[in-house]
Amino acid sequence: MEIVIVPDAAAGGELIAAAIADLLTRKPDALLGVATGSTPLPIYQALAARARDTALDVTRARICQLDEYVGLPQGHPESYRSVVLREVVEPLGLTESSFMGPDGSAEDIAAACLAYDRALAEAGGVDLQLLGIGTDGHIGFNEPCSSLASRTRIKTLTQQTRVDNARFFNNLDEVPHHVITQGIGTILDARHLVLLATGEAKADAVAATVEGPLSALVPASALQLHPHATVVVDEAAASGL
Ligand code: GLP
Repeated sequence: MEIVIVPDAAAGGELIAAAIADLLTRKPDALLGVATGSTPLPIYQALAARARDTALDVTRARICQLDEYVGLPQGHPESYRSVVLREVVEPLGLTESSFMGPDGSAEDIAAACLAYDRALAEAGGVDLQLLGIGTDGHIGFNEPCSSLASRTRIKTLTQQTRVDNARFFNNLDEVPHHVITQGIGTILDARHLVLLATGEAKADAVAATVEGPLSALVPASALQLHPHATVVVDEAAASGL
């Protein structure tokens, strides 16, 4: 695992956008797995700026989702599909045809999970998967105790994660209890994992991920198993190392 400490979130965003730009230069139709939450926004802003202001060609890039809420009405502004379209796909000048994600409003959620895992494999696998980290060490929506070999499936959110994510909704009651998430095994299939963590609130989770034992109690510690994992942290998130 490679650990990169940067001064602040903006520097982390620039660094990771540069890595994505390098990937897209080598492989213009790379499949880029994206994460939601506040942390990756500087990456998407820096990448969109490169697409706008430099010769970087992102027109053939493909984007895929890491996770999704279950049961939000289609088109809900906080469904992760809507968030990724708004924060990544549209700013890059791409269209929905370049984008894939699990169907959180499917009647048969188990079938939708299987279909998404299969679709990722049929698309050739994820070239670079961006990850954030929850305060409890979760990646995607793989909460503590998730199997390290898990595949895309339905999960129940912990109260802590619902509280953490309530800021995107009108109130806590609106935060769904259930989600679809790529499993830890699914995430580990990506060729390169890049986790960005910023702010002091993530310091304990980062320390457990990087220096703690491999444990299902800290899902992000599964990155220790991956041959090409990069953890980018700002000074505050690195303060527990
Ligand atoms: C959610 C997402 C994760 C994300 C986490 C942290 O739980 N499913 O992918 O890493 O939030 O979000 P933030 O970056 O806003 O702290």
